[in-house]
Amino acid sequence: MNELPSPKHRTPEDLRDRLALGVVKFLRFVADAFFARRYGHRAVVLETVAAVPGMVGGLLQHLRCLRRMTGDRGWIRTLLAEAENERMHLMTFIEIARPNLLERLLVLLVQGAFFNAFFLLYLVSPKTAHRIVGYFEEEAVVSYTQYLSEIDQGRHANVSAPQVAIDYWNLGPDARLRDVVLAVRADEAKHRDVNHGFADELTVQTVAAGGSRAALDRHAATGRRSPDAPFDGALRERDGR
Ligand SMILES: [Fe+2]
Ligand SMILES: [Fe+2]
Repeated sequence: MNELPSPKHRTPEDLRDRLALGVVKFLRFVADAFFARRYGHRAVVLETVAAVPGMVGGLLQHLRCLRRMTGDRGWIRTLLAEAENERMHLMTFIEIARPNLLERLLVLLVQGAFFNAFFLLYLVSPKTAHRIVGYFEEEAVVSYTQYLSEIDQGRHANVSAPQVAIDYWNLGPDARLRDVVLAVRADEAKHRDVNHGFADELTVQTVAAGGSRAALDRHAATGRRSPDAPFDGALRERDGR
């Protein structure tokens, strides 16, 4: 399995991108203050949040397709698969760290607030919503890289991998926590790329529908995508290409 951390950062291009990055950096600061180096507990609580956007995005894209009577180009399945994948991260880490009462209460409160906030944000600006998730996932890659380093330095026991993780990622019977964290980090890097890709595609669609020419020029200057290059990241993700 690839050992390289993939510390890719997507440079913000406009105000909404900068806002998305600002929100994520603030929430990262709060999470760092609350969990410090308790990476197992951090993973359990944050995976309960990470599993929300894919379900919300999948639902709202589904409704949009029904209203517009158009295809989804693989987006819905990709988003629902992301939600399920995040839930499997949770089912894995719950075997590693048991949340305390305060953390369980936090999960309840955060879910209530985050689900509604993300739902409303996705209705108003799906592009910003996907950009926020892209930046969340960048931070997840950083956090799991730090978790790996804690394991490598012996500050966190490299316990046997939970059976649920061995089954889910098809790991060897003697797999350890380190193998699990590597697999999870690879998933987060994939979510990062898919969500930034969706946000890019929505930028192109906005411009094509009469949005700002300057936004397209800024976007084209990055060399990422042109309106003539339909986004097929979702299909690549689905097909494992
Ligand atoms: Fe995750
Ligand atoms: Fe993720």
